[in-house]
Amino acid sequence: MSTSSGNITSVLKETRAFIPPAEFSANAHVKSMAEYEKLWQDAAKDPEKFWGQQAETLQWMQKWNKVLEWNPPHAKWFVGGKLNISANCLDRHLHGPRHNKAAIIWEGEPGEQRILTYQMLHREVCKFANVLKNIGTKSGDRVTIYMPMIPEAAIAMLACARIGAIHSVIFGGYSADAVADRNNDAGAKILITADGGWRRGKVIPLKENVDKSLEKSPTIEKVVVFNRCNLSVNMKAGRDMWWHEEMAKASADCPAEPFDSEHPLFILYTSGSTGKPKGILHTSAGYLLGTSSTHKWVFDLKEDDVYWCTADVGWITGHSYIVYGPLCNGATVMMFEGAPNHPKEDRFWEIIEKYRVSIFYTAPTAIRAFIKWGDHWPDSHDLSSLRLLGSVGEPINTEAWMWYHEKIGKGRCPIVDTWWQTETGSMMIAPMPGAIPTKPGSATKPLPGIIAEVVDQKGNRVAANQGGFLVIRKPWPSMLRTIFNDDVRYKEQYWSQIPNTYFTADGAREDEDGYIWVMGRVDDVLNVAGHRLSTMEIESALGSHAKVAESAVVGKPDEIKGEGICCFVTVKAGVVVSEELKKELRDHVTKEIGALARPDEIRFTDSLPKTRSGKIMRRLLRDIASGKQTTGDTSTLEDYTVLSKLRQEDE
Ligand code: PRX
Repeated sequence: MSTSSGNITSVLKETRAFIPPAEFSANAHVKSMAEYEKLWQDAAKDPEKFWGQQAETLQWMQKWNKVLEWNPPHAKWFVGGKLNISANCLDRHLHGPRHNKAAIIWEGEPGEQRILTYQMLHREVCKFANVLKNIGTKSGDRVTIYMPMIPEAAIAMLACARIGAIHSVIFGGYSADAVADRNNDAGAKILITADGGWRRGKVIPLKENVDKSLEKSPTIEKVVVFNRCNLSVNMKAGRDMWWHEEMAKASADCPAEPFDSEHPLFILYTSGSTGKPKGILHTSAGYLLGTSSTHKWVFDLKEDDVYWCTADVGWITGHSYIVYGPLCNGATVMMFEGAPNHPKEDRFWEIIEKYRVSIFYTAPTAIRAFIKWGDHWPDSHDLSSLRLLGSVGEPINTEAWMWYHEKIGKGRCPIVDTWWQTETGSMMIAPMPGAIPTKPGSATKPLPGIIAEVVDQKGNRVAANQGGFLVIRKPWPSMLRTIFNDDVRYKEQYWSQIPNTYFTADGAREDEDGYIWVMGRVDDVLNVAGHRLSTMEIESALGSHAKVAESAVVGKPDEIKGEGICCFVTVKAGVVVSEELKKELRDHVTKEIGALARPDEIRFTDSLPKTRSGKIMRRLLRDIASGKQTTGDTSTLEDYTVLSKLRQEDE
C-alpha cells in the first residue's frame, strides 16, 4: 500500500461467501438482508428519528428534548436528557427475573471461580461508589484504574460511572512511566490498583509499578489497592488504602444520581501518529446506546447466552463489550484473568466447555496463535455450546477466518468480523449475523445509522474495488467527543482531511456488493497483536536512551502478531554497537512504554534515508524491514548510499 501519493492499491481477492444458517436467521433479531437494508435505509434517511427511537431502550431519568446538536466537529446527543450509566447496567435488572442472573462469571488464571449475579454486582458497585465518595471523589474527577482482569476492574468502572467520576483505565501491561504520563495528562486524583495480577503463571507487580509512577504523578492523592495475590507491598500512610478495609466500612446504599447525557464517562488513551498518546473522551448516553445496540444486533444476543469477549478491560473492546454494552443488555459475561496458553494451550477451549460459552469474541492474532499451537487443543474439547464467533482488532486473514470457521465453529457458527476503533466507541462495520452473508476478510456492511464510505483524497467516493480512505459521513451517538485537553488535535486528526467528515486513518475498498474490506492504517500507527502503537511513541522512547542519536520505527510482517516492530537506530559518536546494546534498547522501550512495545528487531545504521527536506522515508525502511526490494520512487532521497548500506547490513 502506498500512502505518500495517496493511492492505495488493493490486492486482496476473496470470492467465497457464507450464507447465515437458516435456523440462525429464523431466530435472529434481524432475519434477512431485506430487513437489514430497510433498517439501514430508514436510518440513513432520518438518522435523528432512528437514534431517537433506539434511545427508548435506555432508562432515562429525564427525557432528552433534542436528539442531536451538531456543530461540526462537535456533537451533543440526546440534549437535555439525564440518566445514570451504572443504573442502566445494574439497577434496571434488579426488579425482574434477571436479578439473580449471573452478570459476571469470572475465572482467575490459577483457577479460582467467582460468580456475581446482577444483584451482587449492584451491591459491590454501590459500596465501592461510597468508598470513592468517602475518600473525596467528586463528579468530574479523574480516576485511574490500573488493574488485572478481575471483577473489581468492572466494579471500579461502574462505581465511577455511578457518581459521575471519569475513569481512565490503563492496561496492566503498561509500564510505570506510561502510567505516570497518563495520570498527568488526565490530572487524575484517585488511582485504583491491585497488589498484582496473574499472567502466564507469573505475578505482574502492579502496585510496585504504581509506586514508581507516583514519583512522577503529583496529582494523585489517594490509592486504593485490591489484594489479589497476597504480595507484600509498600502502603504509604495517608495515601494508600486496602480495598477490602474500605469496603468493610462502606454502606451499600448509594442511590444513582442523574447525569447529563453528555456527562463525560471515561478517557481512554490510544496511540496516534505523534509521540504523545491521545486521551479519547467518551460521554454517557450516546456511548451507552452505541455499545448496547451493537452488542445486541451483532452478537444477536439472547437471554440465555454465555458471552465471552477475551479482550482486556484496559482496551476499548473491554470497555464497550465486556462492561457497558453487555451489562446494559443484561447479558451473562464470562471474564478470564490470564493467558490463553496457561497452564496449557487449551485454556480457552477448556473455559468454553466448562461454562458452555455460546458467543466467543477474540482477535485474529489469538486465532493465528491457536493455529500454530495445533488442532489437537480445540479438538480435545466439547465446543458444541458455541453459536456465534467474533473477531476484532485488525483485518482477519483468510486462513485464520477459515480455521476459526471450521475448527472452532464446526462450520455452524456465523463469524462476525467487527470493524471499529477506540474513537468510534462501538462497532461501525459488522454483519448482523442472521441477515448478512459473510465473506472471509470483510467486516461486511455498515451498521444502521452509520454512513461509511471509501473515498479519495478530495473526499469523492471511489469506484467499486478501488482502494481509498475509509471515512464516516455523519455523526453517530458513540463517537468520541474530543481529545481530552486537546481539542485542536481532535479537529486536526479526525476532521481536517475532508470537510465535515470523520477520517478513520484506515485504508479500505468497497466491493461490487457494497462490502467493505479494511486494509489497515494509512498513518504512522502500527497494529501489533491488535494493539495500536505509534511509531513516534517508540522513537521517542528510543530517543530518551543516552546512546541513541536518531531512530526510525516501522512495522514488518509478523506471522502471529500481524505486525512486528523493527527499529533502525543510529547511535551517538563514540558508542560501540553490540548485541548487548540491542538488548539494552529493547529493555529501555519496555521500561518506557511496556512489554507490548518491545521491539522485535533493532538494526544499527550510520544514517537513515531522508528526503531533501529531512523527512525519514519510512516507506523504504518498511521495504527493507520486510525484506522486499525497493520499488518505490527514491528520487527525493538525500543520500543514495544510505539505502545500499542498509541493505548490506541485511545480508
Ligand atoms: O486499523 C483498524 C484496526 O484497528 C484500528 C483501531 O484500533 P483500536 O482503536 O485499538 O481499536 C481496536 C478495537 C476496536 C482500526 O483503525 N481494526 C480494528 N478492527 C478491525 C480492524 N481492521 C480490520 N478489521 C477489523 N475488524
